[in-house]
Amino acid sequence: MTKTISTKPFDGQKPGTSGLRKKVPVFSQPHYAENFIQSVFDSLEDYKGKTLVIGGDGRYLNREVIQTAIKMAAANGFGKVMVGQGGILSTPAASNMIRKYQAFGGIILSASHNPGGPDEDFGIKYNTANGGPAPERITDAIYERTKLIDRYRISEADDVPLDEIGSYHVDDMEVEVFDPVTDYAALMEELFDFEAIRSTIAGGFRIAFDAMSAVTGPYAREILENRLGAPEGSVRNFVPLEDFGGHHPDPNLVHAKALYDEVMSEDGPDFGAASDGDGDRNMVVGKGIFITPSDSLAILAANAHLAPAYKVGLAGIARSMPTSQAADRVAEKLGIGAYETPTGWKFFGNLLDAGKATLCGEESFGTGSNHVREKDGLWAVLLWLNILAVRGESAFDIVKKHWAEYGRNYYSRHDYEGIETDAANGLMGALRDKLSTLPGTTFGDLTVKEADDFAYHDPVDGSVSKNQGVRIMFETGSRVVFRLSGTGTSGATLRVYLEHFEPDPARHEDDTQETLATLIAYAEHIAGIRERTGRDAPTVIT
Ligand code: G6P
Ligand code: ZN
Repeated sequence: MTKTISTKPFDGQKPGTSGLRKKVPVFSQPHYAENFIQSVFDSLEDYKGKTLVIGGDGRYLNREVIQTAIKMAAANGFGKVMVGQGGILSTPAASNMIRKYQAFGGIILSASHNPGGPDEDFGIKYNTANGGPAPERITDAIYERTKLIDRYRISEADDVPLDEIGSYHVDDMEVEVFDPVTDYAALMEELFDFEAIRSTIAGGFRIAFDAMSAVTGPYAREILENRLGAPEGSVRNFVPLEDFGGHHPDPNLVHAKALYDEVMSEDGPDFGAASDGDGDRNMVVGKGIFITPSDSLAILAANAHLAPAYKVGLAGIARSMPTSQAADRVAEKLGIGAYETPTGWKFFGNLLDAGKATLCGEESFGTGSNHVREKDGLWAVLLWLNILAVRGESAFDIVKKHWAEYGRNYYSRHDYEGIETDAANGLMGALRDKLSTLPGTTFGDLTVKEADDFAYHDPVDGSVSKNQGVRIMFETGSRVVFRLSGTGTSGATLRVYLEHFEPDPARHEDDTQETLATLIAYAEHIAGIRERTGRDAPTVIT
């Protein structure tokens, strides 16, 4: 039986970089999640009788909202819902399910790398039939709908037994509870040379994978330990917890420091990796070397032909604007397209669908390919392992050789978290106002060549996305980028991205922060960070 419930709009249900993200107490308000889910359905056309994939990263509220979404899908006329067992589905696995089973779309419940728990973050994201995050055209329509919504529809049926694999019914709609790992693991086995990786591991190559008590645990155990033979214990923190064990499930040098320290130690493993809350991010560390996400993209692109899925070569490489330009150098050498998009994986969707790009990556620890339409943490780890196995060299040597061949893009991101929204907007506004005066000005030995507010012209559908971040480019090829984070749930975060290109191999062993010191000083000076935010240092440096 279906009920129609009257409701009133909530302010601020605007999807950000990656769906609607709010604190749990906000999401737990009566009708809050329902309003958003109904607004999603109201913004779609011709879905009656079709299939919807639903799953999440297991965080606090996951199960409740999944039951609600299933009942609302039934009441709104979907033909079938496919839901991961226990409500678990990593973001890349959800993308794969949508594609593989030709679903109409999917609802992913996650706040990615943000902490979970009763006072932490929750999120809802809608993905379309290509398996990718809904484009702005749809997220804008959803937001418009949230402002007007006055009713939603929901079934009065009982909860679905999420822990039992099987087929159920909610009114007339079928619900299939499936194992969330099987199809994803099969896809990975198709893409990569598992035989080569297995024999490298059997030969004593040691890997440590930190699932950060988040969604990738079951996937990593099945793939790395069961299928590739890594000894038990190679995957740690593998049980998805509602609060991620009280940690911040963000694989970077701050939140995955223990893993980093271990891999850097003398008797540590040969290779370390970690993934985030919903399994789409990755951090990779080779013994003796942290590999920045920007370098990782470039090196994976230069070596992708060593994996079966990419042996015919790449169509093109896409990176988000603040990501370092290292990948562009690889694209140039390979004679393939290089694309620069705004921050946010959704901007890669058209390039992948149109066959213009094969590999994509972002400085925010995201790497992926045309195998799904999300970034994919375990995929990146497996591509690295495939390359390491075939080349028979250490990650350290592979990175050093890459720099020697292409030059090194020294790169760092400085984050100023939790600053006042007005101060952050004021800072960006003031920067934008002075952009036209910057070219030709100098600071130390830096001369500004160009400065702009990045706008993206999508080469596939012709859409234009403006105000995507302030870029200041110097004569030397160095660059500073300023943008405000689009994924936070309180206050504002200013991100400053710093990049310096060094062709000379004799200067490839320098300290990153020292190498970037002049750029850092320039960034603080030109944006007036200290005066405007009251901060004299970033909160996080990656
Ligand atoms: C999410 C998106 C990424 C994006 C990142 C940026 O993880 O999926 O595509 O790069 O957010 O976050 P920010 O906080 O910088 O807006
Ligand atoms: Zn994520």
